[in-house]
Formats: sequence, structure tokens, C-alpha cells
Amino acid sequence: MSSVDIIILAAGEGTRMKSATPKVLHPVGGLPMLGHVLNSCRAFGASRLAVVIGPDAPRVTAFLEQQPSQVDTFVQTERLGTGHAVRAADKFYAGVNHCNIVLFGDTPLIRPQTLDRIKTLLDADADLVILGFEPENPTGYGRLLTDQGELIAIREEKDASETERKISLCNAGAMGFAPGVLDQLLASLTNQNAQGEYYLTDCVELARAQGLSVQIVTGDVADATGVNSRAQLADVEAMFQDRMRRRAMANGVTLTAPDTVFFAHDTEIEADVTLEPNVVFGPKVQIKSGATIKTFSHIEGAVIGADAIVGPFARLRPGTELEAGSKVGNFVEVKAATVGKGSKINHLSYIGDARIGAGVNIGAGAVTCNYDGFLKHTTTLGDGSFIGSGSLLVAPVEVGANAYVATGSVITQDVPADALAFGRARQTNKEGRGARLKEELRAAKAEAPKRK
Ligand code: UD1
Ligand code: CA
Repeated sequence: MSSVDIIILAAGEGTRMKSATPKVLHPVGGLPMLGHVLNSCRAFGASRLAVVIGPDAPRVTAFLEQQPSQVDTFVQTERLGTGHAVRAADKFYAGVNHCNIVLFGDTPLIRPQTLDRIKTLLDADADLVILGFEPENPTGYGRLLTDQGELIAIREEKDASETERKISLCNAGAMGFAPGVLDQLLASLTNQNAQGEYYLTDCVELARAQGLSVQIVTGDVADATGVNSRAQLADVEAMFQDRMRRRAMANGVTLTAPDTVFFAHDTEIEADVTLEPNVVFGPKVQIKSGATIKTFSHIEGAVIGADAIVGPFARLRPGTELEAGSKVGNFVEVKAATVGKGSKINHLSYIGDARIGAGVNIGAGAVTCNYDGFLKHTTTLGDGSFIGSGSLLVAPVEVGANAYVATGSVITQDVPADALAFGRARQTNKEGRGARLKEELRAAKAEAPKRK
């Protein structure tokens, strides 16, 4: 079994995106496209990884510096085509006796198993392997010209004749090279074509001229779809979401209306979780078995414990940890807070920067006042405490275990365990005054000039 080194091309300008953000950093499922490709390469087990970037790409460089494994970076100083871009990494591949796979940073949904299929052919007797596919709309893709099943050339759309443009089998961009072949072919690449570029795709004709074995692997559409425009970015996002939904269901998650649930690239959901319609996940969410996420909830950066119930209409923000059996109900926002076992925040609350123990009940409309305009402060609620509806907990503040905060309190001082706290004005009733007030107001209205 040979080692495979992968080169990812990411130096293109991405002009068709009309964006200040480099194309390969546009996100799919919340992760830059380039991150998807790198993750796939790692899962496949690439020996070494290289990325070719443009001359002025500080954001791409910064993204590559955060990668969990070594990625060699090469700069293509002038954008003279995909073949030229690979040559920018010649120090990476020349004289190394490994297979090479070249991938495009704008083709994010390529899976490890597809890279495996390329490798399998290289490990057999192929010298050059091309990933082909049949897109719904082939516009913009290079066409695979075959003769009796043999690949003879890849024709870029701009160079293709009317007849060639009718070919539905297209070049996905992924190419595998047996040891030494990449170096050998790129040495003779020229730029004699419509765009005056060094096309990596010309390797097919060069390989055949040198008597090498060229083979096609056919991939599925999602694996192979490239992103040149915002519309294609949306297409790829839809394909990614479809994959995530199917994966979740295959893993034992119920999705009542799969098309209305949107995942992030790293959403982790255990079996026997139920996701009701219209749920959206941002990054870093984990949901444990038996939990239910009800309709119209937005969840990011949260760990949701076993059998917890969230929503409908809940918003969980980063740093939320809901322990087993807890409940966060409608129109509740939780941020940077732990909610202990079986605790309930059922209606219309904001809970931020809080440590909430087990068996706590937070009444409708209770709010943690965590921010003084300068600093964030913590609210701590002991096990079994009860926070009456409409209470304001002015942090930093601590309510002891089993304490009881009366409805409508403004709590500015700590409440000892087992205490009953009233933080509200005392009520006074004035006998008969209500009826008299109404009479006075009725008379005033009769006197007043008519208004529309
Ligand atoms: C390319 C292929 C086409 C294929 C399609 C698949 C060539 C000549 N064409 O066309 O056959 O069907 O992808 O999606 O290979 N890049 C550089 N430096 C450059 C030019 C491009 O690094 O000088 C990078 C880009 O960042 C991108 C990739 O190479 O990640 C492909 O370039 P792009 O311009 O998008 O090529 P396509 O027109 O899509
Ligand atoms: Ca492209």
C-alpha cells in the first residue's frame, strides 16, 4: 500500500463569488470549504498535506495555521492556471516516492471513500486517475472525452466544440498520480489554449502520449460539485444538509420534517433524539440520547443532556449546558449557563452567565441581569431553589439551596439557603378609591373636545 500526499489548490481569485472573502473560506455548514477538504484528507489518511494559496491571502494563511495537523503552504505568485498552481508546490512532490492526489479547495463535499477509490486504482496499475461525474448542469466544467470507454482528453468548456459541450461526463477536478507521474507530466505542460493558462487537465493527453495508463473513477454529484458562484454555494449547502440529515436518521435520530432542519458541520446527535420541524444548529452542538428539540429552536455551542426538552421557540447560545431531564421552554434564551438535572425554565426568560443547580424552577419571565454595561457577572442558584415569575436576579448574586424568591422580586443581595426572599414594594389597597377614580375619568372624557 502506497502513501498518498495530497495537494489542495486554493489560489484562485474566486471572482465569480463577488466577495471580499477568499472563495475557499466561504462556509458550508458553518465550516470554510477548505476546512471540509482538509478534514476529508485527514479522515482518508493522507500522509502529507499541502495547500497552494494566492500571493495575498492572509485570511487563508491564518485559517491554515489553526489546523490540527501539519499543512505545508505554497504560494502561487501569479494565477496562471491549475497546472501552474500545482507546480508552485514542486518542493512538496518532486523526488518523493509517494502517490499524489490533487484536489480543489472549492469542491468541499469530496468524501474519504472517494479518495480511497482513487488510491485503489493507483495501487493497482493506473498511472493517472480522474474523478468524473455527471452534473445536472455541466456548464463550466471540463468535459471528459472518451473513446471506447478510454479517457483520451479533458476539454475545458471554453476550448470545447459544440459537440464536445454536449458531453455529460465532466471533470470533478480530483486527480490521482502514481509515484513520480505528477512531476513527469507537469514538466511538459504548456499554455496553448483559450485562456492561455497551464491546465492541470492537459495531464490526460500528456499521459496518453507517454503511454501511461489513464483511468476514470465515477463519483456522486455531491462529492464532485464545485463552487464558482453564490448559487453553486447554495447548491452545495443543500447537498451537505441532505447528507447530514440522512446521516442523523441512519444513526437513529428522528427528524419529523428533515428538509426543515439545518445542521452545522460538527453537530453531534446520539440515537433516540427527536428533532421537530424548523430547528437550526450553529457550530459545536452535542445532544444526548432521548432529548427532544421542539419546533423553531436555534441552538449553537450547547451540550444538551439526556432526555432534556428544548423549545418550542428556544434559543441556546454558546456555553449552554443542559443536564439530564432539564427543560428550556418557549421564548427562553440561555447563554453561558449550566442548568442542573431536572431544572425547568419554561417560559419567556433570559438566563446568562449562570450556574443553576438541580431541581430548580424558574418562573415565567425571570431574568438574570448579568451585564452592567462593562462586565458580565454570575448568578448562582442552589439545588431546589424556586425563582418566582418576573423576578430580576441582579448579578453577581447567589440564591441558596431550597430558597424561595417571591414573584416579581428584584434580587440584589444573596439569599441564604431555605430563606424566603421578597424584593418588591409592599402592596396597599385603598377601599372604594377604584370606583371613584373611574367616575372622575368618565366625566373628564365627556368634557373633553371630540377627537377622531
Ligand atoms: C476546473 C477544471 C475543470 C473542472 C472544474 C471542476 C482546470 C483547467 N479546469 O475548472 O476541468 O471541471 O474545475 O470544478 O483545471 N486555482 C489555483 N490557481 C490558479 C487557478 C485555479 O490555485 O491559477 C484553484 C482554485 O482556487 C480552485 C481550483 O484551482 O480551487 C479550480 O480553479 P477554478 O478556476 O475554479 O477552475 P474551474 O473553472 O472551476
Ligand atoms: Ca471551480
